[in-house]
Amino acid sequence: MLANAEIVRRFLELKHQVHPDVVSYIREQDDPSLIDRIAAAVPDGTLVISAEHIPGLKKVRDGTRFLTNPELEIIVGSAGTTGSVTGHEDAVHYFRDRYNQLASMVRGRMTAMPIEALAKSPHRYRDEECSIIGMVAETRTTAKGHRLVELEDPTGSIRVLFNKGRDESFSEAEKILPDEVLGVRGKLSNDGGLLFADQLTRPDIPINHAPFRSDRPGKAIMISDVHVGSDTFLNEAWNRFADWLQDSDAAYLLIAGDLVDGIGIYPGQENELTIKNIYEQYDVFAEMLRDLPSRIQIVVIPGNHDVVRMAEPQPAIPAEFTEKFPANCTVAENPCLLNLQGVRVLMYHGRSYDDMIGLIPGASYERPGEIMDEMLKRRLLASPYGMRTPIAAMKTDRLVIDPLPEILLTGHVHICGITRYRGVLGVNAGTWQSQTSFQKQMNIHPTPARAFVVDLQTLQTEVMDFS
Ligand SMILES: [Fe+2]
Repeated sequence: MLANAEIVRRFLELKHQVHPDVVSYIREQDDPSLIDRIAAAVPDGTLVISAEHIPGLKKVRDGTRFLTNPELEIIVGSAGTTGSVTGHEDAVHYFRDRYNQLASMVRGRMTAMPIEALAKSPHRYRDEECSIIGMVAETRTTAKGHRLVELEDPTGSIRVLFNKGRDESFSEAEKILPDEVLGVRGKLSNDGGLLFADQLTRPDIPINHAPFRSDRPGKAIMISDVHVGSDTFLNEAWNRFADWLQDSDAAYLLIAGDLVDGIGIYPGQENELTIKNIYEQYDVFAEMLRDLPSRIQIVVIPGNHDVVRMAEPQPAIPAEFTEKFPANCTVAENPCLLNLQGVRVLMYHGRSYDDMIGLIPGASYERPGEIMDEMLKRRLLASPYGMRTPIAAMKTDRLVIDPLPEILLTGHVHICGITRYRGVLGVNAGTWQSQTSFQKQMNIHPTPARAFVVDLQTLQTEVMDFS
């Protein structure tokens, strides 16, 4: 098997720079002759070899688009589809479903054996290359700075060591999160108790992924975290936004949760509320929506400040709070998957940022785009179970990212961010609330009063600033 550094070096000898996606593809294919074939086919003047230069690699779209409603359709997460939380009896089903969904994505790119087989006959596999796919049960750093991870599949569990001296898999190994699903290739220790990892494979987005684009004009506006009722809600900026919408040609407005500030969300919140009644908060929000042009179709989901349960998937905000919402507004669950003219948008409020930023070295609230990349690589909106993101364990795991959307829309961190990862556009839409006293304490600087306009034909974005 070729090492990453070796692949990069061979391309350099052929006077080419190469994108990391191409390097990982060659490693996965385990076919060194690919290097010469790719280099031979590259047009003159190419600066960096990317996935499109791989001969024979066809762009593939994830799923077909049968449009029952050509305009707007909620594919997953329409109101009333998530169940109630019944305790922990479904946790076994939940994790099995997560494992099955994610393992099948990894299996598309590597052949793995059951963990049980390694444990039962270690002598057979001693010093041989073995591949397994497992869910992360535990992860820690050893005294010597290596990463020790316990991986589980339905047949058993094994400890996997990522050596810090191997820079290739180690930087990724440092980002391993509890309850994500990984493929690992490595060598088994003599006694069969430990796998020395050489290569780490995540479910990820296939490098030949081709996003769908609408065949006719259409624009979607994306915002988040309005926080109506808070004394830091930016009323004037919102009015400028509402005025601007009157002349806008956008057909859709998506709002990714924290519609209102809520009540009793954090200690002392009552001192920072201008509207202290939860029904009134939603009534004022409803009035704001009714002021917007009725030709715009609106979709709203809840966030952690809204009135529904915290555990994800969060149900849609109940009718008793949304009675005054206009008819052009659809109330959906968090997360939910939408179809806008064939373009899929995965809306997720983003509570899991709190966990991922704490666990991934170098991650920051200032750069939500990087965290969206990490969600897409894991094909999971929220990985760790039982940390700051409460998860409702049900028979299926709705936090798995499947099918792939064209656009991932999140909020929660109150800082705008944008990313493009293997054809998927990630947007963190910021907030309509200025810096709160809590954020001041935490030294978090929000970027409020922005709206993202996404062209559904090109997937190009424009940021409008109403601050
Ligand atoms: Fe928020």
